[in-house]
Amino acid sequence: MSKTNGQEQMPAYSEAVSSGMYAKRSGLLGKYDNVRKFWEDENTRLFLRPYLQEAIERARHQMRRLRIIDLGCGSADGYELLSGIRYRDADLHQVEVEMLSPDVLGLYKGVDLNQDLLDQARGIYGDNPKLVFQQVDFTQGFLAKDQDGPYDLYFTSFGTFSHHNDDETAIQLLCDIAEGSRGPTLVVCDWLGRYSYEWQSLWTEQPEQLKNMDYVVSYIYNQEERARKRDSLQHLTLRLMSREEAEHIIGEASRRSGAKMQVRGFFDRSIFTGRHMDTGEYNPQAKPLRQAVNAIHETNHRANLEELIVDYVPKPGFPFLNDYYEGLQMAWNTLVKYVIELLDSYDEQNRVFRYEPSPVPATYPRQLREMMKRMRMIVESVGWLGNGLPRENIIEPQLGYALRYLMNTMQQAQGCGHGLVGVVEIQGREKPMRQ
Ligand SMILES: C[S@@+](CC[C@H](N)C(=O)[O-])C[C@H]1O[C@@H](n2cnc3c(N)ncnc32)[C@H](O)[C@@H]1O
Repeated sequence: MSKTNGQEQMPAYSEAVSSGMYAKRSGLLGKYDNVRKFWEDENTRLFLRPYLQEAIERARHQMRRLRIIDLGCGSADGYELLSGIRYRDADLHQVEVEMLSPDVLGLYKGVDLNQDLLDQARGIYGDNPKLVFQQVDFTQGFLAKDQDGPYDLYFTSFGTFSHHNDDETAIQLLCDIAEGSRGPTLVVCDWLGRYSYEWQSLWTEQPEQLKNMDYVVSYIYNQEERARKRDSLQHLTLRLMSREEAEHIIGEASRRSGAKMQVRGFFDRSIFTGRHMDTGEYNPQAKPLRQAVNAIHETNHRANLEELIVDYVPKPGFPFLNDYYEGLQMAWNTLVKYVIELLDSYDEQNRVFRYEPSPVPATYPRQLREMMKRMRMIVESVGWLGNGLPRENIIEPQLGYALRYLMNTMQQAQGCGHGLVGVVEIQGREKPMRQ
């Protein structure tokens, strides 16, 4: 091989940089941070699992494959989300089984108004003939002219239904789905939660006076960049939604279309961990809890668990919300403090607790007791390992899953998370579906 000078070798590195695949990746910040990966995507999957399974089985009984439309698909993150839904939590010896296997999927159609995002989606999935993308405005009655419908699942993710700034367009969309459907059809509506703590300043007793919020996408930058770019940042107008308002919209669509529309389930996603907890844009008292949860899920990174402590500041005039958040905060903080105590008392050399950690009172909520007991078992089981950074790589992420479990089991689906997700079943007319 002939000798080259250093400069001649640089194009190889430049090529790697321009591919984007050479970028430093971290779960501590950005769109795909750890909370997105380990909490939001996974929680949404757990919530959607029974509904997707039902839709797959319904199609299978009719000897069909599943047809999905993702409204506001962006770069097709929704496809990734759906195709990551597993049949069940696999036993240790099993290889995981994803529900939306290639033999099950007939069509995933992603529609969006943004050409750049559609190009990105085509760049990733363009060689799969079952995935098609089209530029449409979903507020403009496009379904009447859509050649690929009807679908088994009308899907939205991560607040996309909040782009219906006028309830009329949301109602019309549901009516159009009912009009075209040929059997039971599922619609996943994903809104911004009206009563998320991260925008406590926007809570109001008259929701009809403040339907949409001015939403600034500042969270993808770190604090300094945020401050620097403050005036040039783009803003979105997004509908804030409570469960009551969502039910009203669905009820209105059912009345107008004459189709039966049944709410199958709602859930609050990201209760203390919404993206704007870290920016404090809409609640100066919010603590950067998302950052703190990102840290406990970061590999090889030792987090300061004190940063996980929630300090909820009540808003006068909202006793039902204050009581709810106080209860959550108590459970969350109790678990965090208990784990701090476990770590403090554990003696790695002798593989025992130096002093007996506090007892778990029987009066605590069931899920909190369960998670406290579990965390004790985890510290005892792996605290002595030494190899592989057990605190950073096992105990802290397990605390993350325990907190996630608390939030999932204590959520009341009222719009108290960053996202409010609803599944609606529309009873369409029984006509043969296309293959
Ligand atoms: C919050 S992003 C979600 C993107 C993607 N579904 C995800 O989960 O990451 C909202 C998406 O809706 C699209 N969108 C907003 N208004 C729309 C409209 N009227 N018609 C079609 N797409 C729209 C945006 O371009 C954007 O891609």
